[in-house]
Amino acid sequence: MDQKTLIKGKIHYVGVNDRHKHLFEGMWPLPYGVSYNSYLIDDDIVALVDTVDACFFETYLRKIRGVIGDRPIQYLIINHMEPDHSGSIRLIKQHYPDIIIVGNKQTFGMIEGYYGVTGERYEVKDGSMLDLGHHKLKFYLTPMVHWPETMMTFDETDGVLFSGDAFGCFGALDGGFLDTRINTDRYWEEMTRYYANIVGKYGNPVQKALAKLSGLPVTVICSTHGPVWTENIARVVGVYDRLSRYEAEEGVVIAYGSMYGNTEQMAEAIAAELSVQGIRNIVMHDVSQSHPSYILKDIFKYRGLIVGSPTYSNQIYPEVESLLSKILVREVKGRYLGWFGSFTWAGAAVKRIAEFAEKSKLEIVGDPVEMKQAMKDVTYEQCGNLARAMADRLKKDRK
Ligand code: FEO
Repeated sequence: MDQKTLIKGKIHYVGVNDRHKHLFEGMWPLPYGVSYNSYLIDDDIVALVDTVDACFFETYLRKIRGVIGDRPIQYLIINHMEPDHSGSIRLIKQHYPDIIIVGNKQTFGMIEGYYGVTGERYEVKDGSMLDLGHHKLKFYLTPMVHWPETMMTFDETDGVLFSGDAFGCFGALDGGFLDTRINTDRYWEEMTRYYANIVGKYGNPVQKALAKLSGLPVTVICSTHGPVWTENIARVVGVYDRLSRYEAEEGVVIAYGSMYGNTEQMAEAIAAELSVQGIRNIVMHDVSQSHPSYILKDIFKYRGLIVGSPTYSNQIYPEVESLLSKILVREVKGRYLGWFGSFTWAGAAVKRIAEFAEKSKLEIVGDPVEMKQAMKDVTYEQCGNLARAMADRLKKDRK
């Protein structure tokens, strides 16, 4: 059994896979599923780190008992209270009534509010310790990665970091949980999408957490989602560092709406000129086809963003508007923004995107292009100018 659960020292993986849920948080597609990771430390004193979605409790309990049999669990450490991890707290408490819940000041109000669970607790502060025997745990408060109560637990004995959502990614674990025993290829793109969708607003708190943890001799990262990272630690930390700084590669996302294909022709003209200008990473997203989850992922990936919208009922096309609102929520920075739009009898979309541009504080590139009804020679020329302005701006960063 050990081989199937053991990570390092006396730490075991007891998480579960969810391949049923279509939309994480009711919004974000899960084509490869998602894992809810929990860890059991089978030391002189037994501790459980986070729980799993309540729907998986039977499987979860079987895994726990497979490691510790009938031994009691003394501590339940709660690094994060979002219900994908805290969902089984009440059930764990029912099966282990004497368990002491470990959290910080912010944690306990949430446990009572969500689950009505009270009882014995150990309230930790930044730097508090918990000695389990072999493993010596130290707690680091890392608020807003991704909720106010979030904290991380570091095992000083073996260098294992229980990081909560940080360093997590979408994707169930097919077979093994250790990065050394699985093909991790698909998780990297899903890590960017997870970050952009779930943690994207919290770049500053992630940076603060990375600074706080920077001196720790981490040998294993045990996140709440995705593989347990051992040989890829520098790469994983690098991904989170870059994304939380809003750093991005050279490339352009063209996100547009189009009802009858005319606005799409503007997008095509811009993309074609970008390519002529030597920009290789061009990603076109028809907002009616691409789920915003994937558009956001690409916006976090590339430095150029060009938004296009027809005028719809004297407003921006609704799907484009929804995307712009998601960009604002995530306080995306460091992107170059251009835009275009169309109308039939009265233009509004271009004006409204300009309002978004002002709020976003992104660097505006080129002149917005507004088209009446359908493409004309002048529209091709204006789209070409916008594309050239974007390409020139991106190329300046090459030096
Ligand atoms: Fe995976 Fe913020 O919970």
